[in-house]
Amino acid sequence: MKRSGKISFIYTELDKPEELEPADRELLMSAIKAAGNAYSPYSGFRVGAALRLESGTVVTGTNVENAAFPSGICAERNAIANASANYPGDKPEALAIAAISGRKQTPDPVSPCGNCRQVIAEEELRHTGNIKIILGGSKKIRIIKSAGDLLPLQFNSDSLKATPR
Ligand code: THU
Repeated sequence: MKRSGKISFIYTELDKPEELEPADRELLMSAIKAAGNAYSPYSGFRVGAALRLESGTVVTGTNVENAAFPSGICAERNAIANASANYPGDKPEALAIAAISGRKQTPDPVSPCGNCRQVIAEEELRHTGNIKIILGGSKKIRIIKSAGDLLPLQFNSDSLKATPR
């Protein structure tokens, strides 16, 4: 029998950081600051990510590129690895992402790449809670309530259980 489905999600957009709640505004500022520390000599695209944990601790990451291109890593996964290594039991609750291109913050929000979506989604599952995603462009800020929204029909640990042995 043929079936159809439709997947959609609701996001929020704001014009400027002042419209964010204070903790989220600070988180976005941390992401913008982190972007300035990126090591991205090959793309010239600087990305900063700031992850707020349940305790209030903020952990940042930047992209770190490499002459062997696939060895480079994105800002989001760096922030998550940092939090996982240093604050293992502290549940992530919000992740802000910002990018600098040509010395200026991008006007449009930058979305996490597919690899990072997969990793952020697993963080939500392992800590059993949504991670709010705050994508900060200088002209527009987009807020998504869960990383899972960015990765519908995701592959996760349940998928492995469904694999026949
Ligand atoms: N990049 C990130 O760090 N995060 C993203 O979400 C998208 C892309 C980095 C990878 C690479 O160093 C540069 O941006 C250009 O793709």
